[in-house]
Amino acid sequence: MQIIRAKTAGFCFGVDRAVKLTYDLLAQGRKVATLGPLIHNAQVVADLEAKGAVTCPDIDAVPDGYEVIIRSHGVTPDVYRTCEARGIPVIDATCPVVLRLQKRIKQAYDEGKRRVAVGETPLPPLILIYGKEGHAEVNGLVGQTEGTAIVIQNADELDGVDLSRDIMLYSQTTKSLEGFQRIVEEIRRRKKTGGFQYFDTICRQVATRLEKMRDFAASHDVVVFVSGAKSSNGKVLCEECRKVNPRTYSVTEASELRPEWVAGAETVGICGATSTPGWLMEEVAKRILNVEF
Ligand code: F3S
Repeated sequence: MQIIRAKTAGFCFGVDRAVKLTYDLLAQGRKVATLGPLIHNAQVVADLEAKGAVTCPDIDAVPDGYEVIIRSHGVTPDVYRTCEARGIPVIDATCPVVLRLQKRIKQAYDEGKRRVAVGETPLPPLILIYGKEGHAEVNGLVGQTEGTAIVIQNADELDGVDLSRDIMLYSQTTKSLEGFQRIVEEIRRRKKTGGFQYFDTICRQVATRLEKMRDFAASHDVVVFVSGAKSSNGKVLCEECRKVNPRTYSVTEASELRPEWVAGAETVGICGATSTPGWLMEEVAKRILNVEF
């Protein structure tokens, strides 16, 4: 049996940057805390914790004397303000792609407010974000609009949206391009009045992986997708693999593998999300090769 790891699988630039930064700080003996797990991968988070990082549910739980690392997903403006007010040093590992998106949304929101203030328009544009409600990145994006942006996860959720207003649509960086396009088409179809601007803000680190991963998944008998249970892009990428190869299985670690999944397979492809470390995919590959598993 041949086991091949996808070249496009593993840490994206933003995750790699945040993880390396945290390991560097720990190696320097700095006391660092994250607000929630640094990335959507339990093994990496456990390793960081073993080296001294503290994972806190919120700012109130940050121990005295600790610095806070902002995760690659970014945070709401409130978090920066609270840290500043409490004298907690911040190390910002927000992915530059997310940071740019936050700034764009804030600018659009501020411009809408300004136009209302000078009487140019009675209402500011409604900012829509195609993303997962409650996801850290999405919370950070909504935070740029003082909580006024509306999050939609699919076109059906447009039912509750006032489409008579001017609409500005953005996307969470890790959503699928097809899903975004479906929403754009549906807004166009339903919209009778008002303007509509949309901005494809999907990160190319994910979008360009999709096509390559589909090809990869189709070219193997079995695909094992390694990803944290909470990884948003892991779900998207795994689902895409499954569409082209029904023998796609998802695991968070090597111990979850089942021998019957790879029975009779000549080639097994190993894939991962943008938060899956390379060593974890190696472990999975080794276990598949281990006759005893
Ligand atoms: Fe950044 Fe794109 Fe990764 S937004 S965190 S490089 S998926």
